[in-house]
Amino acid sequence: MLHRALLLVIVAAAFVFEACGPTCKNPKAPPSYAADVFPTMVQLNAESEGAAKCQFCHSRKRVGATARGAAPDEANYDTYEQMVAVHKAAAEKVQNKSMPPAVAGKPLTDAQIETFVQWSICGANP
Ligand code: HEC
Repeated sequence: MLHRALLLVIVAAAFVFEACGPTCKNPKAPPSYAADVFPTMVQLNAESEGAAKCQFCHSRKRVGATARGAAPDEANYDTYEQMVAVHKAAAEKVQNKSMPPAVAGKPLTDAQIETFVQWSICGANP
């Protein structure tokens, strides 16, 4: 009887833990912005291959609603500081696939989404 009660507590605790959302999978070697996030998902290098990169729309170099894909004028991710300031909102949008928007044409892969979300959860390290 006591065992059954204990099991119930453990199962309940597992549910509560799960409800808290994803946790950092590798706290000893968390993803870094410079190595794991910026080059593959954010940085705009060649426009032709950069349509889904955040900076295709979110950069001070992109001027005017058309060039920015209607991204808000003040939402620019040219620096780590700018991205880290909104990393939770950004990770949520990446996770639910609202960013980059579908119109950008090149969705992030599941692995990239996982890396972005883990980068945020593990402390949004530079
Ligand atoms: C094709 C253009 C485009 C691309 C590429 C793009 N965004 Fe956006 N972004 C937008 C638009 C338009 C909005 C405003 C509408 C909205 O919030 O959905 C926006 C809003 C946001 C916001 C909210 C900003 C605010 O101040 O309200 C965040 C955070 C964001 N984007 C993150 C990202 C990240 C991270 C990436 C890259 C993984 C990205 N976006 C790629 C167009 C884009």
